[in-house]
Formats: sequence, structure tokens, C-alpha cells
Amino acid sequence: MEKIIDENIQGQALSLDKKEGNTRKLFIESYGCQMNFSDSEIVASILAKEGFNTTQNLEDADLVLVNTCSIREKAELTVRKRLEKYNAVKRINPGMKVGVLGCMAERLKSKFLEEEKIVDLVVGPDAYKDLPNLIEEVDAGRNAVNVILSKEETYGDISPVRLQSNGVSAFVSITRGCDNMCTFCVVPFTRGRERSRDPQSIIEEIDDLVAKNFKEITLLGQNVDSYLWYGGGLKKDFEKASDFQKATAVNFAKLLDMVAEKHPKIRLRFTTSNPQDMTMDVIEVMAKHKNICKYIHLPIQSGSDRILKEMNRLHTRQEYFDLIDNIKRLIPDCAISQDIITGFPTETEEDHKDTLSLMEYVKYEYGFMFAYSERPGTLAARKLEDDIPEEVKKRRLAEIIELQRAHSEYRHQAFIGKTVEILIEKASKKSDAHWSGRTTQNTVAVFPKGDYKVGDFVMVRVDECTSATLIGEAVGYSDNN
Ligand code: 5AD
Ligand code: SF4
Repeated sequence: MEKIIDENIQGQALSLDKKEGNTRKLFIESYGCQMNFSDSEIVASILAKEGFNTTQNLEDADLVLVNTCSIREKAELTVRKRLEKYNAVKRINPGMKVGVLGCMAERLKSKFLEEEKIVDLVVGPDAYKDLPNLIEEVDAGRNAVNVILSKEETYGDISPVRLQSNGVSAFVSITRGCDNMCTFCVVPFTRGRERSRDPQSIIEEIDDLVAKNFKEITLLGQNVDSYLWYGGGLKKDFEKASDFQKATAVNFAKLLDMVAEKHPKIRLRFTTSNPQDMTMDVIEVMAKHKNICKYIHLPIQSGSDRILKEMNRLHTRQEYFDLIDNIKRLIPDCAISQDIITGFPTETEEDHKDTLSLMEYVKYEYGFMFAYSERPGTLAARKLEDDIPEEVKKRRLAEIIELQRAHSEYRHQAFIGKTVEILIEKASKKSDAHWSGRTTQNTVAVFPKGDYKVGDFVMVRVDECTSATLIGEAVGYSDNN
């Protein structure tokens, strides 16, 4: 399937409805995770008030912003390549200014200005509200940098512009940052401490999306299960909260319950879950509401207890199996996907086999698999030698990708002959005569368009499948319309 590749990094230029009176042109593109794409919508919203309309044409831009990812070295190299392209355009359009946003900005800080002469502006993920001031600096001919990480910023008060949306599914961010400190991961350094957004502002944003006819909402966070609102403040300071704050606190299960209850016709999804933070009450809420999709992205990273410990993943292989068993007990047809890293320092053939056997147990619907990439500043980089040869990492990666392909096919074949509910999202990439949508399990399905339209919930009889896609025929509307 498409997503089972070493990197799922992709760039995308975003566009926005023109705002009357705006004269400057912004070209903004995002790499990496969904949070970056979501943040770019916040940035476009902030800059729309500063006189910028977005353009999809790099050559026309007065300001180019690239929202960057640091998760693996390859992601950073992709951005460096993009900067070369901007440089070529700047030769034709010398007035164009270039800004770097996101995780690379946070990681490299003002070093970026020395390393990449083309860059005028460096802004970390918590500093986007300072963009108007920073752009003033740049307009005055000075470089500008703000990479201050915040303990409070959630952008809860900014209404993101939905850029290049299909009008059906939208992402709503609920937490920012991560406190888990997995030893391989750069995210805690680039996105700071974990903080949760006020549930009131989350619900208002969702109400607004529902009023605009969106049909599927994905709650977004580095670690959604860790969501905790007790009137503001960091997750780690919850112990110091007052009795009243503790009694009225909203955790992830409660938030999910509230949203699902309020909008029973809206499909709800969430990502990403961390096994060590996912609690039974979340699974119970999922089982209780028909509109919460039966799908959990539940990264495991490794099937070896020894490697999990080296990674500072705070659960064992057995605890992960227990969690999977509980999910399947309460939600028998729940789909589960994984992230796995191969070739973490010290990983032996035995550890690798543990990962393969864990996969055999779970038989994930799909997964995102990566070769270990050492990230400067992380605990693993400081404490452990990156000692697994590149060819060994690659060979192990190929083995898990192949096993995952077989499992995806196995899972998808189980759909053949069944009739499933699909939310239509867009025309199929391969054929304009077919619609493409997803099952509650997040599996893509394509079928002839008939009289149906984007945003309809339809019942589709599955006739065949590939390892990535179900292929079928619509047999009528679902009762969810
Ligand atoms: N090397 C390889 N993969 C990584 N990931 C995070 N950090 C690294 C790294 N240093 C993967 C993990 C995570 C996903 C988002 O990216 O699998 O779950
Ligand atoms: Fe990184 Fe671990 Fe946090 Fe995920 S949970 S963002 S892998 S530190």
C-alpha cells in the first residue's frame, strides 16, 4: 500500500480564498506530520489579517514559508532541497522573502541563517502569533528569529482557514508537545512540553465545522491519550492543581464522549495514541459510540522488551498484547495500525524476530515503518552508538514491510462479500468515474460514482481488494445521512 514506504513526507502548497483588499502573496507549504499541515492553516489565518493572500505559484510569492519536519534526517534533506529551489526563484524575484517554520526551525534556531543564506525568517512552532512583528523586521531588511517554546500556547483562539480541504474531513488539534521522551525522538525538543487545549474552544471549532457541513473530524495531538484540561497549565503540573480543578478536569475519554454525544452523525477519529497512555475508559467510550471510528493508530516501534526499554517506551510487549486483547474484546472489528523503527542501536537479529512475531500476533491493518535515523540531541544520540549497519537496517525494514503487506492483504480480504459504510471524500486517483472514501476502519474503498456525491454516507458491497484498497459497488445510502 502507498503509505508503507520509508518516508511519508510530502510537500503541499496551500491556497486560501482571496481576502478582499489583501495585496501581498504568501506561498506556504508543509512537510511531515498532520500537525504541521494543521499549523500551516493557523499561520495562513494569522497572515490573512496582515494583508497576505495565499498563492499556489511560487514564482508570484512575496513571502515563502516552509513548515518543516525533523523526525528523520531524510525529512530535513527534503527541506534543504526545497530551499535550493527557492534560491533559484529568488534570483528572478529578488524581493521574495523566505521563512522556515516548524520543527527544523526549532532545532536549528539562528544557525539556520548561517547555514542557509536564503533564509530571512526562522519561527518555531509556538511562535506563530509573533509572525506579524517578525515580518515587519524582515520588511525593514533585518533577519528575524523567534523559537521560544511556550507552556501555554495552543492556538485555541485562532480559527484556522481550511486550506485545500475536501470539505468533508478536517483536523482539530487538541494537544501540543510531548512529555514522553522516547529516546529516538526529536519531538519533545522541537515541540516542547505537553499542553492541552480548552475543551470549550475545541467544541466550538467542531460546532463550526459541523455547521459548514464537514462529516468527519480527527482530533489531533502528538499523544492524544494524554489530553488533560484542568483550567490550563502543563500536564506535569496537574498534581499541584486545586481539588476543584481536579474534580472538574476533562481527560481524553471525557472529551471524546462529549464530542461524540453532541454530534452523533459526525464520524470521529483521533491520532496518535501511545500504548502507555491509552486507558480502558477511552476504549469503553469508543465502544459506546457508533460514530467513533473503529480504528486506532497504536505505534509499537519494536517487539523486543529490551529495545522498548532502551527506547524509553514505558510498557512491555505483554502489556501491549493485553491492550490489543482489550481493544478486540470490546470492539471486535477495530482496526489497528503501527509505527515501527528497525535498526535501533544494539538491535539484534533476535530483537528483530520479536518485532516480526509481535506483528504476527496483531496482524495490523497497515503501518508506517522506518529505518532508525539518529537525531542530534536526543537521548539515544547522546548515549548509544548508531551501530546497526545501513544494509542491515534496510534488510530488516524490507522484511517488516513485506510482512505488513501480507497482513494488510489478509485484513482486507476479510471484507470481501461484506457491505460496509463509506463516507465519500473525493474522486478516485485512478479513475474519475469512481468515488474514493473510507470505512470506519480507515480502509480506502473505491466504487462507481452513480448518483452519489462527496460527503454522502453510502453502503458499499466489497467485491475485491488489493493490499491497499477495497473495490466494490454502492448498494444504497447509509442511515447516517
Ligand atoms: N528514526 C526513525 N523513525 C523515527 N520516528 C520517530 N523518530 C524516529 C527516528 N529517529 C518514527 C516513529 C514515530 C513516527 C512518527 O516516526 O515510529 O512513531
Ligand atoms: Fe516522540 Fe514518543 Fe512523544 Fe511520540 S510519544 S512524539 S515518539 S517522544
